Amino acid sequence: MGVFVFGAGGHAKVVVSTLRAAGWAVAGLFDDDLQKQDSYVLGVPVLGSIAEARRIPPEQGVLAFGDNRLRAKFAAELPGWEWIVVVHPQAYVDPSVVVGPGTVVLAGAVVQPEARLGAHVIVNTGATVDHDCIAGDFVHLAPGANLGGGVRVEEGALVGIGASVIPGTSIGPWSVVGAGAAVVRNVAPGARVGGVPARPLRSRRAA
Ligand SMILES: CC(C)(COP(=O)(O)OP(=O)(O)OC[C@H]1O[C@@H](n2cnc3c(N)ncnc32)[C@H](O)[C@@H]1OP(=O)(O)O)[C@@H](O)C(=O)NCCC(=O)NCCS
Repeated sequence: MGVFVFGAGGHAKVVVSTLRAAGWAVAGLFDDDLQKQDSYVLGVPVLGSIAEARRIPPEQGVLAFGDNRLRAKFAAELPGWEWIVVVHPQAYVDPSVVVGPGTVVLAGAVVQPEARLGAHVIVNTGATVDHDCIAGDFVHLAPGANLGGGVRVEEGALVGIGASVIPGTSIGPWSVVGAGAAVVRNVAPGARVGGVPARPLRSRRAA
């Protein structure tokens, strides 16, 4: 029948493309955004809200929200689904890498030996994960992010576009590393850091 995709935004578009490149058929998408109902993503129909997905028997699926908290929320709210691992044929994942359910590795990404990726991780376009790294559940490594060897990225953290993390450092749970940052020391749980070298940012929104 094909794989169901949860989310119908920009990241879902890339996931649909990646599923097809990896040889999967895509059955349809679910999204709670009313404006997306009855629309198509790369020719695949949006079938309804996520509440409607709960009315069908669980099948194979992918949570295709770029937002880490949304993937965590829907993973908890959709029991019984078989979350598939999707690896783009132009990505490299060493055979020794352990990959959790629902994780996606997009085009141009590289995951080196004995790295461990949790569940529902996104290794986005062109991101690199070097040897012995650990990425917890719901981590997002944004396009072009680079992790040196032995880096630990804890659950729910976002490493932003083009950020670099030096070997052996830890990124705390649910923290955010800003785009273009160079992380040279550990990042605290829930922190927002940015710059070269990365330092805590003061958000204008929180002010
Ligand atoms: C770090 C980030 C989350 C900050 O967002 P925010 O809390 O809304 O921050 P604000 O826009 O209010 O900016 C707060 C300050 O931080 C600075 N800042 C924001 N992002 C920064 C970054 N990436 N590097 C350095 N400084 C940054 C701003 O210039 C501002 O400084 P100022 O007050 O001196 O002018 C965001 O800018 C970012 O880089 N997100 C990553 C996005 C990404 O890669 N997504 C993946 C998509 S696939």
